[in-house]
Amino acid sequence: MEFSELRRLRNAFGAFLTGITVVTTRQANGTPRGFTANSFTSVSLDPPMLLVCMDKQADSLDVFLESSGFGISILAENQIDLSVLFASKQPDKFEITEWTDSPGGYPVLDGACAWFDCERCNQVDAGDHIVLFGKILNFDYNSKYGLGYVRGGYMTPGLEYSAGRAYGSDSPVVVGAIIEHEGKILLYDDQENTDVYLPASGLDGNSGSLQQLQSSLIEQGIWIVIDSLFAVYENEDHASQSIYYRGSARKVERPELFRPIDQIPWDRISSPALKSMLNRYLEESSRKRFGIYFGSDRNGTIQSLV
Ligand SMILES: Cc1cc2nc3c(=O)[nH]c(=O)nc-3n(C[C@H](O)[C@H](O)[C@H](O)COP(=O)(O)O)c2cc1C
Repeated sequence: MEFSELRRLRNAFGAFLTGITVVTTRQANGTPRGFTANSFTSVSLDPPMLLVCMDKQADSLDVFLESSGFGISILAENQIDLSVLFASKQPDKFEITEWTDSPGGYPVLDGACAWFDCERCNQVDAGDHIVLFGKILNFDYNSKYGLGYVRGGYMTPGLEYSAGRAYGSDSPVVVGAIIEHEGKILLYDDQENTDVYLPASGLDGNSGSLQQLQSSLIEQGIWIVIDSLFAVYENEDHASQSIYYRGSARKVERPELFRPIDQIPWDRISSPALKSMLNRYLEESSRKRFGIYFGSDRNGTIQSLV
């Protein structure tokens, strides 16, 4: 198949939304090995069986073929970092990860939302992969949401569900965003120049939406890309919901609307919720580790994404 056709096929496969697993085993000398895989499939309930497809190019292929079994951890939605780590060639994966041995003796990752340990009961040579079939010996699960993967990007279904619930509530919804461009943040002044606020739709009391926000920004010559959800909270005094995203501008015709981070007029931001959101954004952005706030404008919790 030609390269361009391979790429098209990869894109077509990528349209299928999957979870993410880390498949593990042990070398003959006991050293743990593992790799990220989204080709996991449940196969049979009775007898209990699953499969995973392993690339023939994987460095650990021989180890998996020599071992009598393997473990599978289904990653939870806050474990994107582990998916990235176990898809890498970093040699100390198991030293910097919290894990325990399953009863069958295969590493399973702490914090995963389900795990299985299996005896390899069959293997099928299939093109550039080998399909490993496992007979499940032990397994467990919890109520965490699994991490999703589609079109080459990660999805966090539980977090998106929480935002969806806010959208679906009876009270009006404000939908806003922290938009960064060349180290500056998009901020507006009200007409009297007394208040400073973030771009948002639904501030007039009618429910807003991300689409409305994007359209109104385009009218102002600002095209944005949303990276992630940033905060979902209830405004206790106004019986309304706020959903804030974070993102960046990919095209800006009015750069004067963006303010350098060190010139944010903190004393003119009247909303304590906006102030604390912006503060958290700057702090998290300097660490390059973002979380999502859930709660009310008075108190809540931050769920870390990575
Ligand atoms: C999201 C994602 C899914 C992957 N799924 C698979 C898979 O199903 N099978 C596979 O063999 N490799 C898969 N990989 C690639 C392996 O994780 C990667 O090649 C890893 O480095 C192999 O480890 P090894 O070469 O150290 O054995 C996936 C990678 C990512 C990022």
